[in-house]
Amino acid sequence: MLHKFSPIAPPFVKRFYVKSEIILRLILNYKYDLDRFLKWSSVNQNINSQTKLRALITMDYHRLEKGLALKMPKVGFGKDVIARLLYNIPQYVEKYDWDETALITLNTLLAYHNFNSQHGLIDQDLYKKIISWKSSVPEKFISFNQGGTTKVTKSYIIESSNIDLLKFLESRYSVRNFTDENVNIELLKKAIFMAQKTPSVCNRQSSKVYLFTSEDDKRKVLSYQNGNRGFGEQASNVLIVVSDLENFTSTGERNQCWIDGGMYAMSLVYAFHSLGLGTCCLNWSVGKGTDQALKKATGIKDSESIIMMIAVGHLPDELSVAQSPRKELEEVLIIK
Ligand SMILES: Cc1cc2nc3c(=O)[nH]c(=O)nc-3n(C[C@H](O)[C@H](O)[C@H](O)COP(=O)(O)O)c2cc1C
Repeated sequence: MLHKFSPIAPPFVKRFYVKSEIILRLILNYKYDLDRFLKWSSVNQNINSQTKLRALITMDYHRLEKGLALKMPKVGFGKDVIARLLYNIPQYVEKYDWDETALITLNTLLAYHNFNSQHGLIDQDLYKKIISWKSSVPEKFISFNQGGTTKVTKSYIIESSNIDLLKFLESRYSVRNFTDENVNIELLKKAIFMAQKTPSVCNRQSSKVYLFTSEDDKRKVLSYQNGNRGFGEQASNVLIVVSDLENFTSTGERNQCWIDGGMYAMSLVYAFHSLGLGTCCLNWSVGKGTDQALKKATGIKDSESIIMMIAVGHLPDELSVAQSPRKELEEVLIIK
């Protein structure tokens, strides 16, 4: 909305109108975020979807995993967590059947029970429930053994992480020049698989990736984004990273989607880099209208917050990249 001010209007009147308009726009957009958080997160205690219940269960089994991973786990810790899991797991399995979340929880409960009993605390009720649930696990999941803790060695971590990370990081550039070659779907899947190792709050893994493969879809998606002119259409694929608000449970987590989704996107960019592909992050710094329009055009759910787009493609043999110099260490490191 542009105001036509009279040429004789005093500057403070113009400033007032401009400022009011900005504030109104901000309020409407914050309201959009607020409405979506209220509707889709479980901040209002309304656990009415599988994703919401799974998030609560994941938070709790992960509390047990974390407790068991301490240097000196406390015998019998987490009674409140156990009570919630004993209530939530049967409900979950009844409504949604056995799946990885339920199985991981079951294995974690068993690890918790084993730890306690090795230290002289035997909870017969808990053990009976675990055994009874185990007997109802479908045959196909019998060998599923994830959940609880696992032993790793310092030498394993040091050997596995022994790469020239500085060189790896320094050789990643935002790429705005791609060849015509399409990226093989298996390579795209491999990068997304690698990004799955990204840390997330309580391991809730709210991030997802929409992958657009057809030329038409790619063009359509890019038409909603304002920073890809001159190179977007050269990219083999465009991905949209989203974070599902149904995974978040409290007021304090109102911005968590941007953290978890942002970290996921970073992993994805590095995964592509490790596979020799070029990427360019594409901002989704938009208002309510554009956000809703892209969701409508692509089928992205209202519960999913769009973090960013990523253009990906094959690198030409030689290309120009923006230098994008970085700030000095002294400017960003505050040692207190
Ligand atoms: C969230 C995010 C959004 C970005 N959006 C755009 C964009 O719309 N268009 C673009 O050309 N580059 C975009 N970039 C790339 C940045 O300009 C680039 O990362 C920065 O200048 C540092 O350069 P480098 O990636 O080559 O190290 C974006 C980067 C991030 C992290």
